Amino acid sequence: MTQYSKRMVIVHWLTLILLVAAWFLGESVHDLRKSEEGATLAGYIAHALVGGAVLLLTVVRLLFRSKDGVPAPLGNTLMDKVAKGIHHLMYLVLFLLPVSGMMQVLTSDVSKALLAGDASLLPQKFTGVPAHEVHEVLVTVLIVLVGLHILGALKHQFITKDGLMERMMLRRK
Ligand code: HEM
Ligand code: HEM
Repeated sequence: MTQYSKRMVIVHWLTLILLVAAWFLGESVHDLRKSEEGATLAGYIAHALVGGAVLLLTVVRLLFRSKDGVPAPLGNTLMDKVAKGIHHLMYLVLFLLPVSGMMQVLTSDVSKALLAGDASLLPQKFTGVPAHEVHEVLVTVLIVLVGLHILGALKHQFITKDGLMERMMLRRK
């Protein structure tokens, strides 16, 4: 096996698209809450649905991974081990980030506002909601991990030129 299975490849790139959408929606809800207009219920629902889809895809992905397996590592250098460690940490954050988002809704007035269908009940601040800080920190951690991951992919593509990208492509060799 020299490439990831087709379904692993599809879920990898779909996760990237959903993460960009979740990040954009999360930032918009945050900015709206701080503005004079205030956040909307639709904004929170859209963000939660896209973020929830990331969690679902991650669970499905780990199932696919255990069934389909993964291609053998290209090498066994320290950098290869670091890359593998980053993959595992990304899986952990892909799981914990949406869960912290759900905890944030459940432990704040966002859930009250959603149940009542009344945007005026939405919180203006998340004081005393630890999941809010955890969610923010995990967003930053994910950005750093994905940044390093992309740098690694670029290094393989343009410096080592060892065809690593083809392992995550639909085109079969
Ligand atoms: C991987 C998926 C997710 C990503 C990438 C993500 C990203 C973000 C980002 C970038 C913010 C703004 C942070 C800030 O600057 O304060 C945010 C806020 C938030 N997220 Fe998520 N999120 C995800 C999943 C979820 C889920 C599943 C839920 C709930 C079910 C959720 C609920 C929230 C809430 C309630 C806020 C606070 C918005 C505010 O400040 O008013 N998130 N998220
Ligand atoms: C432009 C963006 C991206 C590029 C170019 C890229 C590229 C790649 C490549 C080439 C691999 C295969 C590595 C190998 O065979 O050793 C890979 C694996 C992986 N990528 Fe990405 N990726 C990107 C974005 C992301 C994002 C946003 C995530 C999730 C946060 C992610 C998570 C992963 C994980 C967890 C693996 C390991 C798969 C496994 O072994 O189960 N990637 N990526």
